[in-house]
Amino acid sequence: MTATRTAFKSRPAPAFDVERIRAGFPILRLKVGGKPLVYLDNAASSQMPQPVIDRLVRYQTTQHANIHRGVHYLSEVATGEYEEARRKLQRFINAPDEREVIFTSGTTDGINLVMHGYGRKCIGAGDEIILTTLEHHSNIVPWQMLAEEKGAKIRVVPINDAGELLIGEYEKLFNERTKFVGVMHVSNALGTINPVKHMTAFAHAHGVPVLVDGAQAAPHMMIDVQDLDCDFYAFSGHKLCGPTGIGILYGKAALLETMQPFKGGGDMILSVTFEKTTYNTIPHKFEAGTPPIAAAIGLGAAVDYLSAIGMDAIATHELDLLNYATAQMTRMPGMRIIGTAKNKAAVLSFTVDGVHPHDVGTLLNQEGVAVRTGHHCAQPVMQRFRVPATSRASFAFYNTLAEVDALIAGIRTMQKVFA
Ligand SMILES: Cc1ncc(COP(=O)(O)O)c(C=O)c1O
Repeated sequence: MTATRTAFKSRPAPAFDVERIRAGFPILRLKVGGKPLVYLDNAASSQMPQPVIDRLVRYQTTQHANIHRGVHYLSEVATGEYEEARRKLQRFINAPDEREVIFTSGTTDGINLVMHGYGRKCIGAGDEIILTTLEHHSNIVPWQMLAEEKGAKIRVVPINDAGELLIGEYEKLFNERTKFVGVMHVSNALGTINPVKHMTAFAHAHGVPVLVDGAQAAPHMMIDVQDLDCDFYAFSGHKLCGPTGIGILYGKAALLETMQPFKGGGDMILSVTFEKTTYNTIPHKFEAGTPPIAAAIGLGAAVDYLSAIGMDAIATHELDLLNYATAQMTRMPGMRIIGTAKNKAAVLSFTVDGVHPHDVGTLLNQEGVAVRTGHHCAQPVMQRFRVPATSRASFAFYNTLAEVDALIAGIRTMQKVFA
């Protein structure tokens, strides 16, 4: 999993210039307590580059009106830009059809949409839903609510000490009552990349649909929903350089067509009388009310921006950062890395002997280093590793090796204080 500094140096130069990229992120120029900001909390939310900020300003200053309703100039412009953003997202994940891209408020909203629209219709008493130990609470709690309502059962795929799913155990969970699989693509708490393509193929062989929570994968790697063949794929805009309050749910058209709408209201109908309402076609059936138009257009700009850099180049640079940080931390006494999967992305969770994770976060903040501490909305993972919380450094393509050095130096200083 780890690579040494020497190994890093011997690799070909990354396909992008990180300093030039950083220059495009105004917030990265901030100082915190007089020290340069070292932002390593990207798994919680990433920062926004100037082209995305500019796009939001251009929309608000020259293009804003409500969409799908007006025949006037601005309404037509805004509608066109909103629908163009949908096509950009379609291309970003290689979805076959733009109607399969639903704008949501984020990953949580997308998963809840599937739970209400698909789960409530197709999962009943005695049926089983397979989830994994790694899941974020947003891919646990909605299914628990459904299980409680319907009398269904949740089965959980265990993990090994490295934080990898036990795929043999996953396969053993299937039986004639299995009706649904929910699995995250990349773990936000540990960084583990799950074999979702294989898991999907296995579920399909049993006639079971699969939802992939892509919140931590879409920002870091090329996503091809046709190659994965998953039935649903959800992610949030704010984790991939876009605005908050926006995300997408990809769903196969054949499934979306049969699903119940999650929310009722304007824009999701074809006609309404007090006797009967007929619903709009997909994706509009799932986008009730005025959507976050500016945010959707901003997300379109964000995926354009990322695609111009190249998701493969992003993944390569982030892996270099992860390997460099892991190699250093592995050599430090008194440190425990939580999550040592062979296949990892951009996340380094750790504990420091004798220092509570919250103190780790506070003391690193004094050095200008932003990391997340806590259970990362993944309490079952914490329970599995018997820790109440971890500290988590999570990398983005705009982070540098010097920032990893700042993290390590901050931990060394802290260890001296607590020695
Ligand atoms: C793996 C994973 N799933 C779901 C979510 C929820 O995302 P949001 O709060 O944007 O809906 C997160 C957020 O951290 C996440 O990391």
